[in-house]
Amino acid sequence: NLAVLKKRHFLVAEPVTGELACGSTGIGKMAEPEDILEFTDQTIGAGKDLRGKKIVITAGPTQEALDPVRFLTNHSTGKMGYAAARAAARRGAEVVLVSGPTALREPAFVRTVHVVSAEDMYQAVMREAPDTDIFIMAAAVADYRPSQVEKEKIKKNDAGAALALSRTKDILGTLGANRQPGWFLCGFSMETEHVLENSRKKREKKHLDMIVANSLRMAGAGFGTDTNIVTIITEEGDEELPAAPKEEIADQILNRIVRMTAVPGMHS
Ligand code: CTP
Repeated sequence: NLAVLKKRHFLVAEPVTGELACGSTGIGKMAEPEDILEFTDQTIGAGKDLRGKKIVITAGPTQEALDPVRFLTNHSTGKMGYAAARAAARRGAEVVLVSGPTALREPAFVRTVHVVSAEDMYQAVMREAPDTDIFIMAAAVADYRPSQVEKEKIKKNDAGAALALSRTKDILGTLGANRQPGWFLCGFSMETEHVLENSRKKREKKHLDMIVANSLRMAGAGFGTDTNIVTIITEEGDEELPAAPKEEIADQILNRIVRMTAVPGMHS
């Protein structure tokens, strides 16, 4: 029956493998409602204005090992980057999501590469970089890692302790310093003060086309929330977006990127 439907140009949200009503196991289980919704969304949910583009998106925190039981990390949950990945896939892009450890479900229609440390994330992004068109770096990459990773668990003593830290590689900074023709670079910036001023500086320093600034001090913005309040900063100026779900923010960022990459000479 499926073959007949496909021949008649029906699109099929394929059944999945599992225990079936008849008692046997195999292909034939109804796909999860979330997956059916995602399939529908992917199929008819948006115009395909990113078809033919490869987009690399980083998301989530990184973990920098200290010993076999401990690591340094931050509060990033990955929601903004995952929302961007889903939105870009819906609009027809080939999406590679390079994700630090998060509790989120892998988005459908996206190739997710799981990484742990800043170094892993750097390697994964650089592997994908040569044929990429658009980079959206939403990960909260650790700026420092413990200089030494102990093989055995570090034991406490009665005195205090200090950690020696070394800088990690700046993934976005490296891309900016080695820009290839046709690349569009979008970074994220999270600040607690002088948000716009610091973010503008960051955009210039890293040679970015765009930086998306968010303030950690606003309700409805920042880590773990489903909404965000951001300002999109480009060389054309700043555009503050009203508070909106992260998925909508992602679409607005993509709208701007589509507009900017459509006009020759507007970037790079
Ligand atoms: N980023 C990166 N690799 C790093 C650090 C950051 O790719 N090692 C990216 C982030 O994904 C984000 C942007 O760079 O898109 C943030 O810039 P950054 O200068 O790291 O911002 P902050 O860490 O907030 O700046 P600072 O430490 O100067 O406050």
